[in-house]
Amino acid sequence: MARIAHLSDIHFGAHDPKIVDAAEAWLQQHRPDLVVVSGDFTQRAKRDQFRQAAVWLNRLRAAGLKLLVIPGNHDVPLYNLVQRFGAPLRRYRRYISNDLCPFFENGEVAILGLNTARSLTIKDGRINHDQMRLLRDRFASVAPGKTRILVTHHPLFAMPIGRGNELSEAVGRHEDAVRAAAQAGIHIALAGHFHRTYAEAAQKMVAHAGGALVIQAGTATSTRLRNAEPQSFNWLHVHRHDAVELQVVVWDGASFQRGHHVAYSQSDGEWIGQEIADPLAQPGMRVAAKARA
Ligand SMILES: [Fe+2]
Ligand SMILES: [Fe+2]
Repeated sequence: MARIAHLSDIHFGAHDPKIVDAAEAWLQQHRPDLVVVSGDFTQRAKRDQFRQAAVWLNRLRAAGLKLLVIPGNHDVPLYNLVQRFGAPLRRYRRYISNDLCPFFENGEVAILGLNTARSLTIKDGRINHDQMRLLRDRFASVAPGKTRILVTHHPLFAMPIGRGNELSEAVGRHEDAVRAAAQAGIHIALAGHFHRTYAEAAQKMVAHAGGALVIQAGTATSTRLRNAEPQSFNWLHVHRHDAVELQVVVWDGASFQRGHHVAYSQSDGEWIGQEIADPLAQPGMRVAAKARA
């Protein structure tokens, strides 16, 4: 089993230091096999915001935690046009990571991160054809028994983002990207960006999407919330490529608490979510999971 903490949208510059410290303490205590951070480390891609993010990440690394990180749209300068178009991720590469396509593999999982942040699209993301080729090539040599996980900042799929039926924009070239993910045999697609927790089978969102379970993380530490959904991150236990537990870890105003807990299993190509009763779990915060995903 692989234990993965999936955090997103840290947003140094619009963060709550108390929550940042609490997230670090939680990670140090629970010691996941891998900490995934799916972008938006900063609020405005400013040097001091990147410095704060780097200090935080270095403390996690110094504690012996393994990290897989990718940038988000907020890590591209918005107002500094020279930087935005000339070297959009210069500060990210300097302070956070030079690797924009990080890959992690152990005996159970293979995980690829792809950068979807672009200069031109401001807040919407995009995947290019080289990245789609990389996605297919990277997983071609992965042993069949391993769980294949893709991490992007912008989700590959349009999904509900409001209280009604409002749907988000999917990542640019999403039809090709979804096809590449299906060809690569992706089992789980992790993303952030909307500051909203969500889980759903890819096939429910797009036809011919392959068998992936799509899992969105909320914002872990930002003070900018969507629909007043509290800060949270996802705690994943990957038992097999067709059996995954997801527990949302929620900020309750004073500490991170165990939240909604769902065991997903895939049978005949369909993901089925079964709630796990947890007497210690916080009520209220739920993944938008269906009994039959
Ligand atoms: Fe964000
Ligand atoms: Fe974002």
